[in-house]
Amino acid sequence: MVNESLGTRATASDQQVYIAPSILSADFSRLGEECRALVDAGCDWIHVDVMDGHFVPDITFGPKMCSSLRKHVDCIVDVHLMVSPAERMVESFADAGADVITVHIEAGPHMFRTCQRIRELGKMVGIAVNPGTSAAMIAEYLNLVDLVCIMTVNPGAGGQGFIRSQLNKIRQVKEMLANRNVYIEVDGGITANNSAEVFDAGANVLVAGTAILGDGSTSGVAEYRKNMNAIRRAALSRFTA
Ligand code: DX5
Ligand code: ZN
Repeated sequence: MVNESLGTRATASDQQVYIAPSILSADFSRLGEECRALVDAGCDWIHVDVMDGHFVPDITFGPKMCSSLRKHVDCIVDVHLMVSPAERMVESFADAGADVITVHIEAGPHMFRTCQRIRELGKMVGIAVNPGTSAAMIAEYLNLVDLVCIMTVNPGAGGQGFIRSQLNKIRQVKEMLANRNVYIEVDGGITANNSAEVFDAGANVLVAGTAILGDGSTSGVAEYRKNMNAIRRAALSRFTA
């Protein structure tokens, strides 16, 4: 299921947690530099939040920005498409060097077909669900995707509060996936204060913007490394206790 060129992947039980900083919280005037700093600080993935001003109110950037960033990072580029319609965008982000392309199940009536298209393009397939969407909605996607993204905030902005009710959804999705080799990603409001709860519930890819990059005021490799290590250490705390 997983794009083998990206190597085998661990499951949550392997004590492997992947930290994916969201560049939505970065200084947009220095995005290449910020991405290099995050990689140097030891991030596992770079989470690229694409917003179209229609599916969510804000607008961020398009495929050209992704292809420019691709030159600066050698880790997994995890593109989160908060766009609708989404199908017409997946090809351009695949061409732009995305490794994971995640679309929202709420973005249109034919998201199964859109996920098939991402697979055809040889990219890892992600399906995202908003806080108001039940886990049952992804039942037909379990054999098609490489990643399920559980939004722990309403999409469209960084710096929001973690929605605790989503912890139960993480556990539900973990159970639905059974022993499938599929990442469970959580996105929004993730900090060192809740990373153990989400990891113990079954999430193994933790997206964080504000908790790693601050509000754009903090910056630099040392700061980013400190913040990412705090989230990682807390997530794995049950193994180190
Ligand atoms: C929100 C984005 C998230 C967000 C995470 O729509 O999908 O990736 O940037 O930022 P924090 O960690 O600040 O909630
Ligand atoms: Zn995101």
